Amino acid sequence: MLVKSICCIGAGYVGGPTMAVIAKNNPNLKITIVDINSERIAAWNDSNLSKLPIYEPGLADIVKETRNKNLFFSTDINSAIDESEMIFISVNTPTKTYGKGKGMAADLKYIELCARNIADVAKTDKIVVEKSTLPVRTAEAIKSILHNTENDIKFHILSNPEFLAEGTAVEDLLNPDRVLIGGESEMAIESLAEIYGTWVTQEKILRTNLWSSELSKLTANAFLAQRVSSINAISELCEQTGANVNEVAKAIGMDTRIGSKFLNASVGFGGSCFQKDILNLVYIARTYNLNEVADYWEQVIIMNDHQKRRFSDQLIKTLYNTVSGKKIALLGWAFKKDTNDTRESAAIYVADHLLNEQANLSVYDPKVPENKILSDLNYLDTRTEEENKNGILCTSSPYDAIKDAHAIAIMTEWDEFKAYDWEKIYKQMKKPAFIFDGRSLLNKDKMNAIGFNYYSIGQ
Ligand code: UDX
Ligand code: UDX
Repeated sequence: MLVKSICCIGAGYVGGPTMAVIAKNNPNLKITIVDINSERIAAWNDSNLSKLPIYEPGLADIVKETRNKNLFFSTDINSAIDESEMIFISVNTPTKTYGKGKGMAADLKYIELCARNIADVAKTDKIVVEKSTLPVRTAEAIKSILHNTENDIKFHILSNPEFLAEGTAVEDLLNPDRVLIGGESEMAIESLAEIYGTWVTQEKILRTNLWSSELSKLTANAFLAQRVSSINAISELCEQTGANVNEVAKAIGMDTRIGSKFLNASVGFGGSCFQKDILNLVYIARTYNLNEVADYWEQVIIMNDHQKRRFSDQLIKTLYNTVSGKKIALLGWAFKKDTNDTRESAAIYVADHLLNEQANLSVYDPKVPENKILSDLNYLDTRTEEENKNGILCTSSPYDAIKDAHAIAIMTEWDEFKAYDWEKIYKQMKKPAFIFDGRSLLNKDKMNAIGFNYYSIGQ
């Protein structure tokens, strides 16, 4: 099939950067990203590039280069579907908050809505690409919806999971380790491979069946998350034995069979994918009565929840067993550096725990605004919105956040935190001044020399 136009449903963290990079490398393709959220589309179209809804290093430049040339942002979903030969589905698939599979299974209602929308509007044959991460065999459901339309239009379903990590999305898209395309129609697979082939070498483009592709995405995230939980488990042991987790990580990472990446002990992994994808894997395994398999993967999440709780417990214990009425400054709210995404960020859970202990929190994050911080806390539904607002002060300067604080908790590894004037910060805090470094970002000896009581994960 000759693909001239592409439509992408979902202008989020995945759809936006992915389509921008495809547009940059395929100037002859017309790409339209559509979304039901008109505010988000307006932000993508804003002439002020600092207003783009998603912060990713390098993204604004590509949007500037391609927008309104071959990359368009629109709320007119039907027209974009109608005029495209290939449609990417890139909507979110949150964990279900109701009914069967609540708290475990992926909520596929948006995916189903997209499939029905495509079935209603399409007048010509289409290639439909699953970009969102989905439970294995979702393609079957999409196929069934599309194939049960009254007309005789042909739909080819592909699974093309995204492996980009936020904060490095553009770099990951430009230089992927691999591109995975699962499908049943060779014609459809090759049409998509050709688009990626404009900048990715053919050896890196893997072709598999649909189910291998869907399962590979869940498995990749489960393995990555497992590494973080593994090193976090060792971090607790380090604290008891006098070993240093950073030294252990370096020593084991130099074994080429283990490798050095994803061995940074932390306050716990966050992000939209790890927890959700593992829960999906666990749910699928339980559905097939594979209880040992389910328990095995569930432990990665249990360890992660333990790590977040352990961090706030240690802070409270060290501050003489009470944080009630004490000002605690959280530096960082995003789930990792270089992104404004806060989904499942460890900071949310640590803050919630400290608020339960009646701490007065102050928060500074270079990219996350106050309304997002409050809505993340309100979403947990632990206390009223009023109570959250009263318990937390969001500042636009780190120095306001730390002034008169009893302790600082570093939640995100933003580079700028390393460059702060820590002597000045020390002078402005209540004494004794404590730092709880959830990211091993600062140098222990240097902080101790300034006068801080410095605690870091796994040291
Ligand atoms: C990601 C991935 O696509 C998914 O694989 C991963 O598992 C989690 O989320 P992401 O791009 O990060 O999605 O999500 P988000 O930034 O929430 O973007 C999704 C967009 O889809 C939103 O802008 C939303 O408004 C839009 N949407 C949702 C639609 O346009 N139509 C719908 O029916 C539902
Ligand atoms: C992840 C996958 O890496 C990506 O391939 C997939 O497409 C989406 O999910 P993302 O969630 O954007 O990407 O970020 P990632 O870099 O994987 O980090 C996830 C979480 O793990 C973050 O909270 C991060 O801080 C934490 N992490 C990562 C650690 O705590 N230690 C590490 O060593 C690495």
